[in-house]
Amino acid sequence: MMRTSSLGALRVSRIGLGAMGMSAFYTGAGRGDAESIRTIHHALDLGVTHVDTAEVYGPYANEELVGRALKGRRDGVVVATKFGLVSHTGRPGLDSTPANVRAALEGSLTRLGTDHVDLLYQHRVDPDTPIEETVGALADLVAEGKVRHIGLSEASPATIRRAHAVHPVAALQTEYSLWTRDPEAEILPVLRELGIGLVPYSPLGHGFLTGGIRSLDGLDADDWRRTNPRFTGGNLERNLRIVDEVRAVAEEVGATLAQVALAWLLAQGGDVAPIPGTTRVARVTENTAADGVALTGDQVARLNRLTPASGERFDEGNMAAIDRSGDGA
Ligand SMILES: NC(=O)c1ccc[n+]([C@@H]2O[C@H](COP(=O)([O-])OP(=O)(O)OC[C@H]3O[C@@H](n4cnc5c(N)ncnc54)[C@H](OP(=O)(O)O)[C@@H]3O)[C@@H](O)[C@H]2O)c1
Repeated sequence: MMRTSSLGALRVSRIGLGAMGMSAFYTGAGRGDAESIRTIHHALDLGVTHVDTAEVYGPYANEELVGRALKGRRDGVVVATKFGLVSHTGRPGLDSTPANVRAALEGSLTRLGTDHVDLLYQHRVDPDTPIEETVGALADLVAEGKVRHIGLSEASPATIRRAHAVHPVAALQTEYSLWTRDPEAEILPVLRELGIGLVPYSPLGHGFLTGGIRSLDGLDADDWRRTNPRFTGGNLERNLRIVDEVRAVAEEVGATLAQVALAWLLAQGGDVAPIPGTTRVARVTENTAADGVALTGDQVARLNRLTPASGERFDEGNMAAIDRSGDGA
């Protein structure tokens, strides 16, 4: 069995599975549903108990896929999904109004084929809806048994505090990896003070940190990475130096680059639970085996000193949706 991490009162396998790329954003999305379902089943067979999806992935197709895969295998799996990027109330843009939270959750339950979501996240903070109202709606869903635990994604420390004061937040999801160290300065200390877990998304740097992407050549024309600053404008070539540094540690450890990237996240603490994304059975085997990869203090220190990434982690449009509010909204 895989070891577990604590996300507030929720326990999950230290390595989870991100399902997004099976239906959206990356090369091959939606092409091989049968392989995707085999990939999810294989993850469960290997002890993964944490599967991450969202209403907006597809939209809807990813939750349907996860629902199909979990048919007959729902027990013991922490199903995490997210709302707030799709509006069912006719409002433009982000929508975390109580009415939309409820409408979104009902749709998610239907698509996932379940009567409860184990971890329901607000996907992005809605500047036009006070976080207290959103979390109040989530607390109602918890009281009704439709949601077990609640989470936030890309919320600022101030918003996290305000939300947690209304109802305990189990997990904060944000980008965290060897080339995205942003949460360490202000987010992680607040999470630890409040007893909230951290779920690093894109823990493999959208695949870049595995060494598998050395140019854009193999990527589909609509692959999201083609517009990401870290992969464009000469930054991809500059960032290959980071891959070389990770490779040097991987060779010393006798592990793959993906495993080192995940083991470094696990070394940050028992309240960290990354959700690497893959559409392939063999890569689930590789990624989950990171649970057994131990880095020495010296190796962690070398990884901490990697050359910083060239390029912002998001383009301007995506950056604008990241909550930086000092007093929430
Ligand atoms: N809260 C948010 O706003 C947010 C944002 C982004 C993502 N997420 C969540 O986080 C999850 C993971 O993030 P992510 O998918 O963006 O990025 P990631 O996990 O850093 O990387 C995924 C990419 O790496 C490749 N890959 C996976 N394992 C590999 C291995 N061992 N060797 C070589 N390549 C490998 C995958 O390709 P193959 O499929 O070909 O293996 C895929 O293209 C998502 O699935 C989603 O659930 C949340």
